[in-house]
Amino acid sequence: MPRSSESTAQVREHFRRKAFSFDHLYDEEHALQRLLRPGLFNRRELAVSVVREYEEPSVLDVGGGSGRVGEPVLEAGAARYVDVDLSEAMLDLARERLARFGDRVELVRGDFLSAELEGPFDIVLALGYFDYIADAPAHIGRIAELCSGSVVASFPRWTWTKGPVRKLRYEVINRCPIFDYTEPQLRELFREFTSIQIDPGRSGYLLRADR
Ligand SMILES: C[S@@+](CC[C@H](N)C(=O)[O-])C[C@H]1O[C@@H](n2cnc3c(N)ncnc32)[C@H](O)[C@@H]1O
Repeated sequence: MPRSSESTAQVREHFRRKAFSFDHLYDEEHALQRLLRPGLFNRRELAVSVVREYEEPSVLDVGGGSGRVGEPVLEAGAARYVDVDLSEAMLDLARERLARFGDRVELVRGDFLSAELEGPFDIVLALGYFDYIADAPAHIGRIAELCSGSVVASFPRWTWTKGPVRKLRYEVINRCPIFDYTEPQLRELFREFTSIQIDPGRSGYLLRADR
C-alpha cells in the first residue's frame, strides 16, 4: 500500500475507535477544560466569527467529524454546511447532532482528496484536521480550488513540553501517524491567498486565509 493510503486507513481506524471520546471533549466546556485545551475552543470561535461576517454562506468542513463545529456554524447562519469525513462513526454523531437543520446539511463520507464535492464554498474549515495529513500540499491545493472566500484551519506545531507525549500516545500506542508544521511552511502553502493571518497558539497555529 502506498504510504498515504496506509496512513489514511490508520486515521480512519483511529476515529472509529475514538469517535465518542473525541466528541466528548467538547462537553467539558468548563474553566479547567478551556485551560487544558484552549485550541479546541478558540478555533471553533474563530470559525463562527468568520461565518458571521458573511450573509448565509456556504461552508465546507473538511474532516468536520461529529458536527461540534457544524452546529454553531449553522446556528450562526450558514445556508449550506457540508461535512466531509473519513469516519462513519464521526458522521453518525454528526447526523444525530445536525438533524434539526434539515437540508442545509450534507454529510459526505470519504477521503477529502477524492470525495465528490460541489463547490465553490464561501468558507472552508479544516480544524483539528492537518494533524493527520501526510500530504498537506495536496490537501491545501484542493481546499484552494474549492474556496472562494475564507479558510480557517488549525495546524499543530512541535513543542518539547507536549510533542514527545503526543507522538508516543498517537503513533506508538494508537498507531495513528501525526504531523507538525512551522509558520514559514504554512505561509508557503497558502501563498496563493491574498491575506494570511497566523496566530501561534500554545501548541498549534490557528490560520485564517482570504482570497
Ligand atoms: C480531530 S477530528 C476534528 C473534527 C472536527 N473538525 C472538530 O474540530 O471537531 C479530525 C477528523 O478528520 C477526519 N479526517 C482525517 N483525515 C481525513 C481525510 N483524509 N479525509 C476526510 N476526513 C479526514 C477524521 O476522520 C476526524 O473525524
